[in-house]
Amino acid sequence: MKILVINGPNLNMLGVREPDIYGRKTYSDLVRLIENHCREKGVTVEIFQSNHEGAIVEKIQNAYKKFDGIVINPAAYTHTSVAILDALKAVGIRTVEVHISDVSSREDFRRISYVKLYAEKTISGLGFDGYLRAIDHLL
Ligand code: DQA
Repeated sequence: MKILVINGPNLNMLGVREPDIYGRKTYSDLVRLIENHCREKGVTVEIFQSNHEGAIVEKIQNAYKKFDGIVINPAAYTHTSVAILDALKAVGIRTVEVHISDVSSREDFRRISYVKLYAEKTISGLGFDGYLRAIDHLL
């Protein structure tokens, strides 16, 4: 099984950004956690982060026929990006949406998710563990 993990804008700032919401662990901690989990489960994983919508769209397009599953935290693009939704629909790869925080209990605008219209599951509010649950779901 080959899984692509995609993280959107500002997730490279984990550990620094709003620690009361996202915690004190860094993006490198997240990468290590996912890599260790995938090693234990025998999953091949690629982990990608970008602050640019177009780069995320291109990464999804390039995943066509190369990955069996996508775990995506589109971050702020969750609430705005039809382009990311369309890219996921275009490649037809099984997808799980993840949010570190509980988006349903924050500002109203965070309740809208375009990716949710395609994702087979959304995991929100479980911190970094959400990524591991998403991988387990795809398995
Ligand atoms: C987030 C929630 C989004 O609303 C926010 O814009 C993020 C991170 C999360 O993981 O909780 O950047 O996707």
